[in-house]
Amino acid sequence: MPLYTAGFAAEPAHWFREWEGEFGSLVPVELAPGVLATLVLGHREALKVLHNPDTFPADPSGWQRDVSGDCPVRQMLEGGPTPARTAGVEHARYRGAHVAALVRVDQHMLQAEVERYAVELINAFWTVGSAELRAQFAYPLVLEAVNRLVGVSGDASAALARALAALTEVRDVESAAAGRRLLDSVLYEVVQGKQAAPGEDVASWLLAHEAGLSEAEVVAQLALIYEMAVEPTTALILNTIRLILTDDRLAAALGGSLSTRDALDEALFTDPPLTNWCVRYPHVPQLMDNGVWLPAHQPVIISLADWHSGPAGQADRRGNRSHLAFGAGIHGCPADGIGLLIATIALDQLMDAVPDMRPARKLVWQTSPFHRFLTALPVAFEPVRSLP
Ligand code: HEM
Repeated sequence: MPLYTAGFAAEPAHWFREWEGEFGSLVPVELAPGVLATLVLGHREALKVLHNPDTFPADPSGWQRDVSGDCPVRQMLEGGPTPARTAGVEHARYRGAHVAALVRVDQHMLQAEVERYAVELINAFWTVGSAELRAQFAYPLVLEAVNRLVGVSGDASAALARALAALTEVRDVESAAAGRRLLDSVLYEVVQGKQAAPGEDVASWLLAHEAGLSEAEVVAQLALIYEMAVEPTTALILNTIRLILTDDRLAAALGGSLSTRDALDEALFTDPPLTNWCVRYPHVPQLMDNGVWLPAHQPVIISLADWHSGPAGQADRRGNRSHLAFGAGIHGCPADGIGLLIATIALDQLMDAVPDMRPARKLVWQTSPFHRFLTALPVAFEPVRSLP
């Protein structure tokens, strides 16, 4: 079952339901032509994989030995010195450094900074009566928030924005590799600057951590943070706004019986930023409860979207946070609180300022076997005539 075709990208929920009917919770898929994997649709099976890291490690080294350099999904999945692509002691070392740095982030400062910048961005369009919420609001807001916590400012933030844009506009394997080299070189400069003059920020705390990470290792951790933080948090904001604008039931209850966090949770169930992710590689073949064998070294990938039968079906899910949008187990997102903080402020500020937004055009998605992001979210609203 191919995850890379336009047909799949157009109607993923439809295909998931079809495949669940045909194969049950473990679906044999292709991530690219000839790149075989198993997609886990069942919530119970997903937890079994995510909570057994010895049987299902995240280390792809056995898989990538047999995968050519021009494989279109190799760069997304290949190994590297980060918690996301290692197992055991190595994973614990990198993850320990991330967790220690992320808990030191001053959430009050972050909240105040994000609020201030959200208002600045909204002020630039709310007298106009229309806006493109990805380019004019969500993306720059999230990037600024992540720059703040990492400790990137001035010229480095402009260079970083260019490097990330090059990675988003990737068309082929070579341009993806070039984008990644550019990002690494900008982050290397950042790390050297922090080495010379440490600050109160994640980059400096990673450098100073007792794990003794080298400069190259800190560059890899920062690249992982930008990769895991910027697009996913932007997508969460946009997907939740889209849901509010298109679901009358949700829009009517928001601010009353439904909180911003409830709306975010609904989007995390039905439209998670990473749709199929948390890739694991059993080192020996695994027999699952339903009699299916998972081959050794072949990717096992988890469906994070509740597009099939899901843990709670389509019932009212207020207060239910059993979605897998942030993963689970020892690789589960160490910064879900930070992502949710940024998204909550973004939504609260926007809904307060322009509560009468409506979608202005047909929406376009950028998709891959792993994600589904809105390329733009144009909206129209009554222009606000005078600033308070
Ligand atoms: C709404 C926003 C976010 C979503 C949906 C999200 C989702 C995820 C998911 C699904 C994983 C698990 C990957 C796996 O099991 O293989 C993960 C891991 C991770 N996330 Fe997040 N994330 C978000 C925000 C952030 C932010 C803001 C940061 C950093 C500031 C961050 C840093 C990380 C890191 C470092 C890992 C790797 C942890 C490990 O492998 O041990 N994420 N994230």
